[in-house]
Amino acid sequence: MRFDRLWRHATLATLAPERTGVGLIADAALAVTNGRISFAGPMRELPAAACAREEIDLAGRLVTPGLIDCHTHIVFGGERDEEFALRLAGVDYADIARAGGGILATVRATRAAADETLFAAAAQRLRALMAEGITTVEIKSGYGLDVASELRLLRIARRLGQRLPLGVVTTALVAHAVPPETDRAAHLAAMTGELIPQAVAERLADAVDGFCDLIAFSAAEIRAVFQVARRHGLPVKLHADQFADGGGAALAAEFDALSADHLEWTGAAGVAAMARAGTVAVLLPAAFHCLREHNRPPVAALRRAGVPMALASDCNPGSAPVLSLLTVMNIGAVQFGLSAEETLAAVTREAARALGRLHDIGTVEVGKRADLAIWNVERPVQLIYWLGRNPLHARVWGGQ
Ligand code: NIG
Ligand code: FE
Repeated sequence: MRFDRLWRHATLATLAPERTGVGLIADAALAVTNGRISFAGPMRELPAAACAREEIDLAGRLVTPGLIDCHTHIVFGGERDEEFALRLAGVDYADIARAGGGILATVRATRAAADETLFAAAAQRLRALMAEGITTVEIKSGYGLDVASELRLLRIARRLGQRLPLGVVTTALVAHAVPPETDRAAHLAAMTGELIPQAVAERLADAVDGFCDLIAFSAAEIRAVFQVARRHGLPVKLHADQFADGGGAALAAEFDALSADHLEWTGAAGVAAMARAGTVAVLLPAAFHCLREHNRPPVAALRRAGVPMALASDCNPGSAPVLSLLTVMNIGAVQFGLSAEETLAAVTREAARALGRLHDIGTVEVGKRADLAIWNVERPVQLIYWLGRNPLHARVWGGQ
């Protein structure tokens, strides 16, 4: 039996769904062939004749699926440090948004930036994520807010996926904010009537997203957007209940959303609806932290109801200026009460589920893409125990 690469003596966290916890296998072997996992199991089950072009002794190091950041707004122009300073002085995020700052400030800077500037800045941020073992990232548009600008952001996101050794899943964030040059109805009409069909025609979007909240769009407005997405065969996801329980989680579930994200104010009805629909809860602890939120997502209720929980960076220049998923994991565990095992599952298996990609990535199982992170630690909890320590030993993307 000849593999392309063979790692021996790993501590393997498979995250395979039928195994308990993170599916730990002590003294494991792992092999890849043609970029796919071709063996994952105890060393003693490795056929005696097994060999490979490249053989590596991991001396007990932990191997996990490559990490997945399933919610980012990583393509944007400008910075919002002045707003950050205002918030430190006590000004509210919502008040900044209502005064034309917030998302609209980034829209102005993004529209003014050249393609190459946006591409280079996003690539640099992605490299920071990759240095922590991220192998797949979701990228949303949403800072263009007119049809041409949104398509431009989606094209840049696609190009990032073609140029970097990284899986990129794109999302058209079609209802993020109303741009200054138009009114709500006209904006939504353009986004649904023009942006979605054009994005579909060019295969630029893997999903459709919206922002359902007091400072953004109502459930009725989002429902109309989701109906168009459904007609075009695109799965949906939603920024839901971040600042108030506006029924966002239940609305997402009604449309069989891949995920409902944020959820700080989601109540019992939203949790139950998500459980019924199999919608993943994507929790965004960096936004919670940076906006000094107090209401925590209903983690205990989500757990009881069997709703899968993912964690993501929400990387953006406003609510979540963060380029470290390991830091996000620590905040998620400490502030939201996820166990070490739940935290690792949240950035691997459950993040893959939230992207509709669990058939291909997110666990270490034979047949899946060989996207792996190899760590200089022995136990999963050591990944999140220290803040600011990056124990990545090696990152493997498609077997390379
Ligand atoms: O996920 N909630 C809406 N959108 C982003 C924030 C965008 C911004 O502030 O620029 C979020 O937090
Ligand atoms: Fe977001």
